[in-house]
Amino acid sequence: MRISTGPLTSPEIAYEIARATAVHDCPDIPYQSQKNFLALFDYPPPGVTYERYLGYVDDQPAGYLELSYPQLDNLANVDVDLLVLPAHRRHGLGRAFHDLAVERARANNRRHLIAATVDRHPDGAAFAEAMGAKAGLAEIRSRLDLTTLDGIRLAELRADAEKHAEGYHLRRWVGVAPDDIIDDLAYLEGRLNIDAPTGDINWEQENLDADRMRKGEEARERRGRRSYQSGAMTGDKMVAFTWLVSDVDEETHAWQNTTLVDPDHRGHRLGMLVKLDNLDHLRELKPQLKAIDTFNAAENAFMLNINRAMGFRAVDAWIEWQKDL
Ligand SMILES: CC(C)(COP(=O)(O)OP(=O)(O)OC[C@H]1O[C@@H](n2cnc3c(N)ncnc32)[C@H](O)[C@@H]1OP(=O)(O)O)[C@@H](O)C(=O)NCCC(=O)NCCS
Repeated sequence: MRISTGPLTSPEIAYEIARATAVHDCPDIPYQSQKNFLALFDYPPPGVTYERYLGYVDDQPAGYLELSYPQLDNLANVDVDLLVLPAHRRHGLGRAFHDLAVERARANNRRHLIAATVDRHPDGAAFAEAMGAKAGLAEIRSRLDLTTLDGIRLAELRADAEKHAEGYHLRRWVGVAPDDIIDDLAYLEGRLNIDAPTGDINWEQENLDADRMRKGEEARERRGRRSYQSGAMTGDKMVAFTWLVSDVDEETHAWQNTTLVDPDHRGHRLGMLVKLDNLDHLRELKPQLKAIDTFNAAENAFMLNINRAMGFRAVDAWIEWQKDL
């Protein structure tokens, strides 16, 4: 069997490999359209550069490797997306990609390779271990099933949160944040890697500012994806926020991303309040929504408790791996 790797020659083939692998790993998550996948090539998030490769078994395309290099912070890291089609596994292509990723990381002065695996199949974790990576953070993917939402329970949670959140008011927006809150938003989002558990993964604080937040949203929109946000304000300052993101051409599924409350304003149920408000926000704008998925560190009890109370249920377990060079 002949194993080889080379630069990406066909983004369409990369899409087919990424789609087939994702469907194998997480059959319950609708995979993005080819149009949106390809748009990442032209509209990356600000401050990230990519290298992309195809892998071959007997000259047949069988794997896809994407290396992402943060350029504005996290300068020692490279994020690795290393995929081999299920039918072509255990022939050594994963190992060939691993060797290439290590070589490219060294050439780019990166010391930490970071990648995630899911527990649904043994392949990912067994491979990561065999490559000498260390399990750095346990994560859980949870799902909120909107077809069985408990409306009475949600109304109770909201009433309770509002009682604790007297003096705060809510604000909603879609896409780029309004000018008067975008600095607050950059500050809050930038706290994520400090405030949320990151285990032994070398994730450093992101250098976020209004300009980067704005460009990030504009690029996201060009990738066919839109963010829906809700924030809690005291006076004219935003002190808590949350965001959901959903592909414009996907009516039934969304992702819950960051929820963050400024440390000075914790203890007022603002995390719960903005999440409940944003759920209503998205349901109004995407009435056919059926499911929202989210990732949390397994040790993030505060966030998991809020999610469980809302009705999120664990679906699968993930590990973030890190290999140090
Ligand atoms: C992980 C993945 C890339 C491996 O690709 P692959 O081409 O099958 O990997 P290789 O054949 O080069 O395997 C290298 C070594 O990993 C280990 N390994 C891989 N899969 C394994 C499995 N299912 N059980 C036990 N060991 C396994 C073995 O030690 C293997 O060496 P060996 O075959 O000589 O025993 C592939 O399973 C995949 O795409 N999984 C989904 C995405 C993913 O999890 N990517 C990894 C992110 S770190």
